[in-house]
Amino acid sequence: MLVRLMYASRATEAVNTEALSAILRKCTANNPAAGVTGVLCFSGSIFLQVLEGGRSQVSALYNKITRDPRHRDVVLLNYEEISERSFAGWAMGQVNMSRLNPALLLKYSEAAVLDPYSVSGAVSMAMFKELVATASVMGQA
Ligand SMILES: Cc1cc2nc3c(=O)[nH]c(=O)nc-3n(C[C@H](O)[C@H](O)[C@H](O)COP(=O)(O)O)c2cc1C
Repeated sequence: MLVRLMYASRATEAVNTEALSAILRKCTANNPAAGVTGVLCFSGSIFLQVLEGGRSQVSALYNKITRDPRHRDVVLLNYEEISERSFAGWAMGQVNMSRLNPALLLKYSEAAVLDPYSVSGAVSMAMFKELVATASVMGQA
């Protein structure tokens, strides 16, 4: 039983490159054993993450992530049972913000900024899928 979950959150402290790398290293270390894949986007001070995998594995990981003091205001944006993964290629892919075309953000929102708190979950999911389709997601080195 596969599920896909998406949430948004706000970083509690300045998340610099090193802090982000530490999170991604943890994803690479833990997610394959749990059969979890997904994509993490960090822009401004906002995280947007998609998790895919077995229902109990995704649920357990989400519960752990929501308790992480590095972020707050965790909002569940989308949860669905799926027949196949859309983000199977990464233990945790990272959106390459330097390749993010502002026109893509504008396509889905009122301003060219990433603000999942002001758009529907369906819109954020559509944007994520387009990011993958346009090769704006990279793997963890
Ligand atoms: C925005 C964000 C996303 C995270 N994503 C993951 C993840 O996909 N997988 C993971 O194992 N930990 C993730 N973490 C870290 C977890 O909250 C937690 O610190 C970690 O899983 C603990 O791992 P451990 O039990 O091996 O020490 C994330 C943390 C944050 C702040």
